[in-house]
Amino acid sequence: MPRAIISPSVLASDFGQLSAECKRMIKGGAEWLHMDVMDGHFVPNITMGAPILTCVSKGVPGIFMDCHMMVAQPEKWVNDIADAGGALYCFHIEATNDPIALIHFIHERKMKAGVAISPDTPSSGITDEVGELADMLLVMTVYPGRGGQKFLDRCVPKVSELRTRFPEKDIEVDGGVGPKTIDVCADAGSNVIVAGTAIFGAAEPEKVISLLKSTVDTAQARIAAARR
Ligand code: DX5
Ligand code: ZN
Repeated sequence: MPRAIISPSVLASDFGQLSAECKRMIKGGAEWLHMDVMDGHFVPNITMGAPILTCVSKGVPGIFMDCHMMVAQPEKWVNDIADAGGALYCFHIEATNDPIALIHFIHERKMKAGVAISPDTPSSGITDEVGELADMLLVMTVYPGRGGQKFLDRCVPKVSELRTRFPEKDIEVDGGVGPKTIDVCADAGSNVIVAGTAIFGAAEPEKVISLLKSTVDTAQARIAAARR
């Protein structure tokens, strides 16, 4: 049964104190940190790249960096992100013609491979072959590019569809997720939860982390029982 993993998005953090912000989240119960890498091509904004991730992995020993690569040429950055200490390399299916080769490359560099789909990409964009080979599937619940957007309910059925096809896989949701929207995500079968604004904007982030986590674990137990 896939377990709940909370991955706060540092996009909503104080970038001037990035390492300290990551430590604060780990102390608050976060297992992963979601690092949004934007290149100004795949999405209009630019955030950070491998040099900054290198500093964070040095400053926060043992950190699990869940790298969300919103970049036009995902194959181009695999080596740099691996050298920077990235643990998971999640690329967008819309940005590549050869996802299978890319997943193999990511695995060769000893990272987990994630495959993301934007709101307008159907779940069938992730073929059975790609889904089986990947370690994680990411269903975007906002258009990639910036934090603080409104959750798009219409993306939720894609989570259910992927959960049916891949019962044991990590399935992540990202965008507008927080205490108000976690129920539908958890019920649909998502177990890796990204939240930026909802966690970093909270007075007590540890309480939000723990609520998101317990909601997912409860839903996963229910889904597993229903399958039996
Ligand atoms: C959007 C990013 C998200 C974003 C989530 O392009 O991929 O990770 O930071 O932020 P919130 O939770 O504020 O929607
Ligand atoms: Zn993201």
